[in-house]
Amino acid sequence: MFTVGIVTLSDKGAAGNREDLSGVKIKEMLPDDLYQVLSYRILPDEQKEIEQELVRLSDELHCDLVLTTGGTGFSTRDVTPEATMQVAERNAPGIAEAIRAYSMTITRRAMLSRGVSVIRGKTLIINLPGSPKAVEESLGYILDTLTHGLNILLGREGECAR
Ligand code: MTE
Repeated sequence: MFTVGIVTLSDKGAAGNREDLSGVKIKEMLPDDLYQVLSYRILPDEQKEIEQELVRLSDELHCDLVLTTGGTGFSTRDVTPEATMQVAERNAPGIAEAIRAYSMTITRRAMLSRGVSVIRGKTLIINLPGSPKAVEESLGYILDTLTHGLNILLGREGECAR
């Protein structure tokens, strides 16, 4: 089992002016027998608040995986990648690269997501874009491979079987 924190970044969602379909989509996509969601919050696009939440999920709740959705685009309010980089200890760029590479086969607009993937302690933090469709496509593509990465991060798996 892996523990998970979900954070939706949306000014409108945090103000109660938009239903958070993307965070709900993440929850729905995580198989119950593998992932236990410890926390799910909707926050405004405020960098310091996002940083504090990522630190709380990593250092206090010890989530194995943190998935964010939203705030990865070009709007001046989009600061999720900056907050994530700020709390990062190690880069894990392959996951963000894989998401964009696969997503580009669906829409060229995928190049407009600035999402990053990093490691803080024993927590893997991944930024997903903000729409439920983008969440479905992005998370759907990486989900199978995540378990192997998480097991290595947690020291549960050593050598990669070849
Ligand atoms: N990735 C996938 N797989 N599918 C999508 O529809 N939309 C893109 C991109 N990534 C999209 C996607 C668009 S239109 C934008 S503007 C960026 O994600 C940023 O989205 P965000 O600001 O909601 O995070």
